[in-house]
Amino acid sequence: MASLLQLLPFICLHLLIVIASTSSNQTPKPYIVYMGSSSKTENGDVEDTELAHLQLLSTIIPSEESERISLIHHYKHAFKGFAAMLAEKEALALSGHEGVVSVFPNSLLQLHTTRSWDFLEAEGAKKKSRSTWSHRKNYKPSSDVIIGVIDTGVWPESPSFNDKGFGKIPSRWKGVCMESPDFNKSNCNRKLIGARYYDNTNQNATDSSRDYIGHGTHTASTAAGAHVGNANYYGLAKGKARGGSPSSRLAIYNICNQTDCSTSNILKAFDDAIHDGVDILSLSLGIEAPYLQDPVAIGAFHAEENGVMVIASAGNSGPLPSTAINTAPWISTVGASTIDRTFVSTVLLGNGKAFQGSGISLSNLSHSKTYPLAFGKDIATNLSVVSQARSCSGGSLDPRKIAGRIAVCITSNSTVSYETMILAKAKGYILVDEVFKAVPFSTGLFPFVIVGNSQGFQIINYINSTKNPTATILPTVEVPRYKPAPIVASFSSRGPGPLTGNILKVLSCLVNLRLPDVTAPGVAILAAIVPFGEKPADYGFMSGTSMSCPHVSGAAAFIKSVHPTWTSSMIKSALMTTASVYDNIGKPLKNDSGYYANPHEMGAGEISPHNALNPGFVFETTTKDYLRFLCYYGYSNKIIKAMSNTNFNCSKNSSHKLISNINYPSISISKLDRHKVATIVKRTVTNVGSVNATYAANVQAPSGLAVNVYPKKIEFSENKKKDSFKVSFKSKGPDSGYNFGSITWWDGQDNHVRMVFAVNIVQ
Ligand SMILES: *[C@@H]1O[C@H](CO)[C@@H](O)[C@H](O)[C@H]1NC(C)=O
Ligand SMILES: *[C@@H]1O[C@H](CO)[C@@H](O)[C@H](O)[C@H]1NC(C)=O
Ligand SMILES: *[C@@H]1O[C@H](CO)[C@@H](O)[C@H](O)[C@H]1NC(C)=O
Ligand SMILES: *[C@@H]1O[C@H](CO)[C@@H](O)[C@H](O)[C@H]1NC(C)=O
Ligand SMILES: *[C@@H]1O[C@H](CO)[C@@H](O)[C@H](O)[C@H]1NC(C)=O
Ligand SMILES: *[C@@H]1O[C@H](CO)[C@@H](O)[C@H](O)[C@H]1NC(C)=O
Ligand SMILES: *[C@@H]1O[C@H](CO)[C@@H](O)[C@H](O)[C@H]1NC(C)=O
Ligand SMILES: *[C@@H]1O[C@H](CO)[C@@H](O)[C@H](O)[C@H]1NC(C)=O
Ligand SMILES: *[C@@H]1O[C@H](CO)[C@@H](O)[C@H](O)[C@H]1NC(C)=O
Ligand SMILES: *[C@@H]1O[C@H](CO)[C@@H](O)[C@H](O)[C@H]1NC(C)=O
Ligand SMILES: *[C@@H]1O[C@H](CO)[C@@H](O)[C@H](O)[C@H]1NC(C)=O
Repeated sequence: MASLLQLLPFICLHLLIVIASTSSNQTPKPYIVYMGSSSKTENGDVEDTELAHLQLLSTIIPSEESERISLIHHYKHAFKGFAAMLAEKEALALSGHEGVVSVFPNSLLQLHTTRSWDFLEAEGAKKKSRSTWSHRKNYKPSSDVIIGVIDTGVWPESPSFNDKGFGKIPSRWKGVCMESPDFNKSNCNRKLIGARYYDNTNQNATDSSRDYIGHGTHTASTAAGAHVGNANYYGLAKGKARGGSPSSRLAIYNICNQTDCSTSNILKAFDDAIHDGVDILSLSLGIEAPYLQDPVAIGAFHAEENGVMVIASAGNSGPLPSTAINTAPWISTVGASTIDRTFVSTVLLGNGKAFQGSGISLSNLSHSKTYPLAFGKDIATNLSVVSQARSCSGGSLDPRKIAGRIAVCITSNSTVSYETMILAKAKGYILVDEVFKAVPFSTGLFPFVIVGNSQGFQIINYINSTKNPTATILPTVEVPRYKPAPIVASFSSRGPGPLTGNILKVLSCLVNLRLPDVTAPGVAILAAIVPFGEKPADYGFMSGTSMSCPHVSGAAAFIKSVHPTWTSSMIKSALMTTASVYDNIGKPLKNDSGYYANPHEMGAGEISPHNALNPGFVFETTTKDYLRFLCYYGYSNKIIKAMSNTNFNCSKNSSHKLISNINYPSISISKLDRHKVATIVKRTVTNVGSVNATYAANVQAPSGLAVNVYPKKIEFSENKKKDSFKVSFKSKGPDSGYNFGSITWWDGQDNHVRMVFAVNIVQ
């Protein structure tokens, strides 16, 4: 299997360098030229737009290089534009051109499996995740909802993609099942109704929809895998496997080759998927970039415009703040949490002491025999620096010294992979990592365990104080009904969004709306995998916001299958306002350090799909609202006009202060001046519950903030399906910084509509 994850730490960096580059590198490279919405009338004239794009190129590219006057990709269905080989100054020239919204270099995307560790080698699909999902039998979901998964392809033979019980493919479906030597038309069926791949410039393999990485198979089966009995990973986590919406269909868009996923492919996949007729798009990947240079934000905007809901992962760069990506307001942004099942691996030292750590391995070591235990300097080359030897990093290891021993390494930012240990014939591997001790990674048969710092130091102390230290690592044991759960995973990216890459300097501190919307399970998730090795498993574990995202995609598909007329923003609102903020011992949801989690960490909370079927009322956000958002954010009228391809105009009074007024199911105020007048935001809501209903507001505000809602009651009736309210925020205390709270509307019966707020008080 390709070691894709190895490349990940550098990808964001790479992009930023490209964008910030001022060097005059004139070697042509692939660029994306994005030209906004396709108007409906133009749709018939695809050939014409292609010709127009070529003509545009010919005015820019010198005639002696005419071979470059060709399109790598041509975007034409939902939006216009193309990818082509351009020199930097040509790209610059094009970006000033009439009708061109943005021009940006093709670059690589980051898959959001757990943070880029080598030993996280892809393995994995998802079993029963939360008890809430079992209530579904009360409803009759339709099987017409189509989830598009833009990812690394699919392993179609997985039992999760069998189409038993499925009726005819919905007639509106216009997609295809692209063939390749390793992928037949017969690999598609009534469940897996479409598969496309893109020019993935594979060196050694042909392009294909087949997944050789494992990531796409895992995410697709998590979103909509069929019911499969007795799924397990070598006996662990035995149970029934199924996706979030087993009745939904899947369409696969493979934008990756065996090592990389590129941005020009992703735009093509969006364009195709919208045209093919998907209802929901699930993207467990992303890139850090300004909105109009971010292929996910651009593709998702046009998806939204065409009624397709887009759900994307927030990234795995937590627990540092300001790390969430894919946070454009027209995307549903998902963070990761744990589930009520965990795995424990035990380290037994020669002195009889035992330590419990995490990790998923089927170690064949036992109680009865121990092996030599070695730390840092014991297994390093005699040239290596002490700090490197401690973390086993930077080529400090001497493979000959590893053989036959159990190695102990302390995490640093370059951790040696478990595969290195296997290659060097280590007996086992103990990693000391305070942050990742709670994320069980699977290493197959190889004995592996992660322990926290205090346990690690005791183990190292034992090594220090013992002539011939020994240990053994016992096979992993499953811990069901683990409490407390969920908790926010340490790796889950946090809001507010990153402060990089804003087009206008003055807006660089703008963070409105940039929080994850919700969290969903993303730690040690069992789902379908690509079978690999001598005794391949059909199911395996993966962790990351990549795994959380398809949970929400599945939940959204489930809601859509019960409420086919609901729009994307209604479904998002339902998922957010009904999200749970309590764990399975009835306490407020916490983060990985045991503190109460705030909206920057968990958004509105953990999704609760069953409750989201009956949210009471919803916040509807329209395409025009999103265009206004871009005006307020600081993009020019000209650019937004080109993007929307309508006669929409930014209002003259556009300013970042108005962003909080976008009709969103949460409230974020990036700057509330201390002691100044109150900031007032307005919301309009739409009844989707009982015709006659009255809701009363209950505010939970932190002590530093005065929050008032008016009116305090919302009333719906036969003639009144919509109502509005305002919320004022004024600072009270002496402190600046973020203040979090919520407003809950209750109808006196079953419906609680909760909206969270994050208010940054500044001097
Ligand atoms: C494709 O079909 C042919 C004949 O129907 C079969 O021999 C081959 O194994 C199939 N390939 C795959 C990848 O399913
Ligand atoms: C994947 O594509 C990239 C270009 O996007 C290329 O540089 C890389 O070599 C390809 N990898 C493989 C394994 O073919
Ligand atoms: C592709 O093949 C070449 C030559 O056989 C080999 O050296 C290289 O490692 C292969 N690349 C990948 C990504 O498999
Ligand atoms: C464990 O399994 C490996 C191969 O999977 C084998 O080489 C080794 O001898 C086994 N060890 C024990 C203690 O059984
Ligand atoms: C390490 O030290 C040994 C002797 O102590 C020596 O023979 C060997 O060459 C050294 N290795 C390296 C890589 O310096
Ligand atoms: C991480 O690695 C870089 C470069 O190798 C080094 O400069 C930095 O100090 C390291 N950070 C930590 C926390 O070890
Ligand atoms: C182990 O011994 C080394 C010196 O040989 C010392 O630097 C280190 O702090 C000791 N570690 C522990 C955990 O006692
Ligand atoms: C948990 O929350 C506390 C308080 O907000 C914060 O200091 C800490 O860094 C957070 N820890 C993690 C792992 O998110
Ligand atoms: C936007 O402004 C243009 C020029 O001022 C005007 O012609 C057009 O009608 C305006 N569009 C809307 C929807 O008001
Ligand atoms: C901004 O201008 C629009 C008209 O273009 C008006 O409807 C709206 O009330 C104004 N908003 C504010 C906050 O002044
Ligand atoms: C709603 O209330 C009105 C007035 O009280 C009543 O006539 C109507 O039947 C009620 N509708 C429903 C669906 O309960």
